[in-house]
Amino acid sequence: MRTVNSFVFVLAILLISCSSQKKDIVKGIKLQNDWKFKTGDNPSYSKPVFDDSGWKAVKVGQTWDKQGYEKLDGFAWYRVKFELPASLKKSSFIKDSLRIYLGKIDDFDEVFLNGKPLGYNGITLQPEASFPDSFNVEPSPWYKERVYRIAVDDKRLHWDRENVLAVRVWDRGGLGGMYAGMPEITMVDVGDYLKSEHKKRAFVFENGKARKTFVIENTSTYVNMEGDFIISATDDFSGKEIYHNVIKVKMPAGNEQQISVEIPEQKESVTLKYVYKQKGSDSKMTFTDILPYILTPPVSDKPRINGAKVFGERPGKPLLFRIPVTGKRPFKIDVENLPVGLTFNKKTGIISGKVAEKGEYPVKIIVENSIGKVSGMLKIIIGDNIALTPPMGWNSWNCWGLSVDQEKVFASAKVFVEKGLADHGWNFINIDDGWEIKGDSPEPKRNNDGTIRTNEKFPDMKALGDSIHSLGLKFGIYSSPGPLTCGGYTASYQHELLDAQSFAKWGVDYLKYDWCSYGQIAKNNSLPELKKPYLVMRNALDKVDRDIVYSLCQYGMGKVWEWGAGVGGNLWRTTGDITDTWESMKSIGFGQTENASFAGPGHWNDPDMLVVGWVGWGPNLHSTRLTPNEQYTHISLWSLLSAPLLIGCDLERLDDFTLNLLTNDEVIAIDQDVLGKQATPVLIDGDVQVWVKELADGNKAVGIFNLGEEVIDYTLTFDKSGLPGKAKLRDVWRQKELGTFESSFDMKIPAHGVVLVRVAGL
Ligand code: GLA
Repeated sequence: MRTVNSFVFVLAILLISCSSQKKDIVKGIKLQNDWKFKTGDNPSYSKPVFDDSGWKAVKVGQTWDKQGYEKLDGFAWYRVKFELPASLKKSSFIKDSLRIYLGKIDDFDEVFLNGKPLGYNGITLQPEASFPDSFNVEPSPWYKERVYRIAVDDKRLHWDRENVLAVRVWDRGGLGGMYAGMPEITMVDVGDYLKSEHKKRAFVFENGKARKTFVIENTSTYVNMEGDFIISATDDFSGKEIYHNVIKVKMPAGNEQQISVEIPEQKESVTLKYVYKQKGSDSKMTFTDILPYILTPPVSDKPRINGAKVFGERPGKPLLFRIPVTGKRPFKIDVENLPVGLTFNKKTGIISGKVAEKGEYPVKIIVENSIGKVSGMLKIIIGDNIALTPPMGWNSWNCWGLSVDQEKVFASAKVFVEKGLADHGWNFINIDDGWEIKGDSPEPKRNNDGTIRTNEKFPDMKALGDSIHSLGLKFGIYSSPGPLTCGGYTASYQHELLDAQSFAKWGVDYLKYDWCSYGQIAKNNSLPELKKPYLVMRNALDKVDRDIVYSLCQYGMGKVWEWGAGVGGNLWRTTGDITDTWESMKSIGFGQTENASFAGPGHWNDPDMLVVGWVGWGPNLHSTRLTPNEQYTHISLWSLLSAPLLIGCDLERLDDFTLNLLTNDEVIAIDQDVLGKQATPVLIDGDVQVWVKELADGNKAVGIFNLGEEVIDYTLTFDKSGLPGKAKLRDVWRQKELGTFESSFDMKIPAHGVVLVRVAGL
């Protein structure tokens, strides 16, 4: 190595080759130290000759916010200089390209190598190519590992000379910088050509085994793969390896191989790893996978009446209620004391009709099957309020985005019935944006009489509504108060009454009413301006002959929880859009504190829809990026918050884990509790948060969440959490009594996981 003061050498991993070669061989270059940093933006920062000696030192692998640049949003630059010894090439198994790993960058990056564009947001550019609009990308790639691969003979590389890497970072909000993973340069190795589809396949549970089969592929055109594919599972609580299996891999270039994994079903959090090791090379490729663990016990054969115990409708408005019952079929269901105007269809289990008189009508439901007989009460309240418990259903947005169509919507309704979700109380089937005519389409957006037209994907809304209703389910739709929806489709501005009438004609039971493009109409952000469009639509909804649950979607502006009920909303979004990451779900879910006292029967805070199962906001879906622990946290927290529960996944691809997650009646009962209280955090103890919700029977639902990165042993101290000194505890997910405890309860909580208990004071 040359010793040159003008540039800073980076730490190189020097390995003495065990072969006969005498010379030191460089196997990789760690770009850990010697990075320089400057806030602001200037094209000359990319130039190799630029004098950065006055720049500050900075650590990579942690955000700039932690290093004295707290709350810095916008541009900043990182630069590092390093020598690239030719021996790096020699040592490698495959000798054709170099891999530049920069860890994760929050939010966007453009990388220059020796003054030339190298890549952006993890995408490598060809030689001579320039950057596209790198920062106009949704969603933000802040969570993505940045890996740039470049051919060894690429002119942008300087072998045996100084190289300058300059990284232009744009942070659009929150934390920023090169924040995770240690940058390094290595030769591309066999593992880089290994593509695994394990994330695209879900585990299936059968006879005490969790099974999955997926394909691995050798994407190289000339490198043959031969080696071991090692599967290991480690119990997160004990740290013990509970499973180990080695599969032989033989994949000539361009070939693929099927891998089958079969692991005994686990009842708690596990870390699953796949490691590929190439024969004759010390190269390894590690993938992590998720082994879901099912906590919800199988549905019992005994008859059980599920779902909300109270149901509201206004006088004279059509009522539809499918009694949710589980157990061995066939059932005989009977109802007693139905108010005048309602009828019960014994075959379908659906109550329907209209009640003219206001009042509270306790209806007895009796269910019998070959195993036994149960009865329960449903209180039908005919009055001024609807949505007496948080709405539960499905919405098309988090899976299909604007690619939704009629078939997908009806398929979801069918799954609700066929897979039994409707038997646990799930009932709304809601179309989100994308059913209207596009704003920039040459087609007329409305008919001559001003009524709104649907696009070709929704040829007959009334027929769709009727078929959803025929299953005993409810039908929801979406619109916006401005001229256009958020997706750029026709919205309701100045046609509110006509649209409400169309919705009623189609049989709509639920309207999600957004804000997008109304920003151009509103004069300012004052409360009267924020309320105005919602009052206009409320007025219109009041004029139609159906009850339509009214969902405001303006992301919490002007503290909507303080006035959402006042403008006639049944629920209101309290935040921006959720996405399927821990960061997003965590910050939204655990941020619902200020609004707690505003939730109650008929008016709910809405922290956005669920991100479990196959999601994607468009035609291409992926399995949620939330781990099983995070998903248990998501559903537990939303239930404690009395949040509307709207499944946002492709129901036709509902896997065993997700189905079980969504059909735990004791968890759902917490969400649907008739008291309608929203949980609040009673204790924040380091990474642990204790959230408590009061229930109608005097019990408390308690979620003890671990927001940290490691399993934690935790003692819940009753008096610190406002719980009775002596209490009976029930594990809600496992539906199991835990016993009687005095003053405290010890538990283990997995990373990002939860223990959800029901506490009955003694
Ligand atoms: C907004 C909403 C989303 C969805 C889209 C539709 O972003 O917050 O939930 O309805 O609009 O375009």
